[in-house]
Amino acid sequence: MTDALIDLRSDTVTRPGPQMRAAMAAAEVGDDVYGEDPTVRALEERVAALFGKEAAIFTPTGSMANVLAVRSVVGAGEEVLCDSSAHIARAELGAHAAYTGLTMRTWTGPRGGIDLPAIEALFAPDLGPFFVPTRAISVENTHNFGGGTVLPLGDLQALRSYADSVGAAVHMDGARIWNAHVATGTPLAEYGAVTDVLAVCLSKGLGAPVGSLMVGTRAAVDEARVWRKRMGGGMRQVGILAAAGIYALDHHVERLADDHANARLLAEACDVDPGTVDTNIVVVDVSDAAAVVAAARDAGVLVGAVGARTVRVVTHLDVSRDQAVAAASVLTKVLASTRPTTGGS
Ligand SMILES: Cc1ncc(COP(=O)(O)O)c(C=O)c1O
Repeated sequence: MTDALIDLRSDTVTRPGPQMRAAMAAAEVGDDVYGEDPTVRALEERVAALFGKEAAIFTPTGSMANVLAVRSVVGAGEEVLCDSSAHIARAELGAHAAYTGLTMRTWTGPRGGIDLPAIEALFAPDLGPFFVPTRAISVENTHNFGGGTVLPLGDLQALRSYADSVGAAVHMDGARIWNAHVATGTPLAEYGAVTDVLAVCLSKGLGAPVGSLMVGTRAAVDEARVWRKRMGGGMRQVGILAAAGIYALDHHVERLADDHANARLLAEACDVDPGTVDTNIVVVDVSDAAAVVAAARDAGVLVGAVGARTVRVVTHLDVSRDQAVAAASVLTKVLASTRPTTGGS
């Protein structure tokens, strides 16, 4: 890929800049499997504190953080409820079933949102020996395939009350929780308060090259350390990567507001109501996603197909305002040229 292309496929495509690389090079390190990497420990303690939780554990990927998080509240032969387009259901390659042996049932909420009546209808913790017992409810904030949707705090609090009333755990896939925090001003600890366990990523909007964390109770994190090692995720002098995460937390959180503004600009260009764009992701309904992706690429803009008729446009650290403006004009033309003509032959 050439640098001339404007890459809006995902916020995972960012490359660490010189200052982040300098922070990585300067990191103090040790063997993290022995618990001796001071930079990893500093990152874990900082992130746990941000969410008001007891502990956190650094993982190579958001998928691994999600598997560790969900398995801390759901066992083999038990189920978690989630939205039908949740990343854990759609895009983790069956990892939760493969590693934990759990099953999932889904509701379909508006743009990936919480549908409490649907959750209440699905919830079945103890229907006897014929049914899988429900143990947890998982939500995604922001919701990726829903279009970067922020889950309203009121909905999360209502879910928390319901979960408490029935003895269920709440997991949050917070890969982009930082975007929700910046878009709404909701303190991260509020998200911690409505959940039992979270997975959060440093490698999406925050621009670190690698790294996620599972955040929860000390007991859950201690157990996750065993499972992380079992899954081949025990890393050694990984403070080099944790340093990138610390740099990202210091420098790349507040600037997410720029990505959100760029996303609204791109939404307008794609004929999507910018009022529906909460954060940095724009989901565009088209008649042929592959054709739109190909035409945009030919015109110098990379976007992703996330369904046969759905294109996703994502803004991030490596897309400037000028590039967003340029991409907006390209996408308007591409969408007009790939729209099927109505009537006539
Ligand atoms: C909402 C969400 N959760 C989890 C993940 C998984 O992260 P990773 O690619 O680091 O495994 C992603 C990846 O894009 C995501 O969008």
